[in-house]
Amino acid sequence: MSLTLEGDFGPISDVVKEKLGFCFESTNRLIKLVNEFLDISKLQLGRDILDIKETSIVEMLKDIIVEVQPEADKKGIYLTLILPPEPTSLVMADAGKLREALYNLIDNAVKYTEKGGVKVELQFVTKGRNNCAMVIVTDTGIGMTKEEADDVFGRQFERGKEAKKVYALGRGIGLFITASIIRAHKGKIWAESLGAGQGSAFYVELIAKK
Ligand SMILES: Nc1ncnc2c1ncn2[C@@H]1O[C@H](COP(=O)(O)OP(=O)(O)O)[C@@H](O)[C@H]1O
Ligand SMILES: [Mg+2]
Repeated sequence: MSLTLEGDFGPISDVVKEKLGFCFESTNRLIKLVNEFLDISKLQLGRDILDIKETSIVEMLKDIIVEVQPEADKKGIYLTLILPPEPTSLVMADAGKLREALYNLIDNAVKYTEKGGVKVELQFVTKGRNNCAMVIVTDTGIGMTKEEADDVFGRQFERGKEAKKVYALGRGIGLFITASIIRAHKGKIWAESLGAGQGSAFYVELIAKK
């Protein structure tokens, strides 16, 4: 399709170009959706598909913030990264997958906030015998009810009416994938509502390198 669009098979009219462009876009959306479902089913099989290496979560968060910042600026909301005083520790993670998970949380926080802003905080805490890295994404956006917060990582795409929306737009899979990624890393993820209209907080806990 892209070759035809680029005119490799001869000239095409503007109308055909436009219509073919729509087809191309929706095919790409479909491919993306299929890949997301494939990723989910692979992740459900566990940690094995992850390419685990020492990963700097500090650099990863800085990098994501740079990417999401323009969207926050466009909306006139703040996007702040708070790092621990000695941000030296590394986590054991599949950098690509972990980035996808954290990106979705920060992207969501910006997406669902119109006033105020988003705070991304990294902390290192000790839990029993493990050192853990905690990423806390807090926003002042539309928030969630307690029920929504408890259920927000569920398979939204399997819920009746919601399912139709998802299959049409590919929406609502993000948090399910995010949670699958974190759990495949043997990490924890949970959400808290801060009250109606008061925003939300998302927590990710990962095992840090000793
Ligand atoms: N920071 C947030 N504040 C309020 N609602 C949220 C937030 N993050 C996620 N949600 C809710 O959870 C749903 C699922 O999120 P996600 O799977 O990432 O899908 P999407 O980004 O396509 O909306 C969202 O559609 C939204 O209703
Ligand atoms: Mg999302």
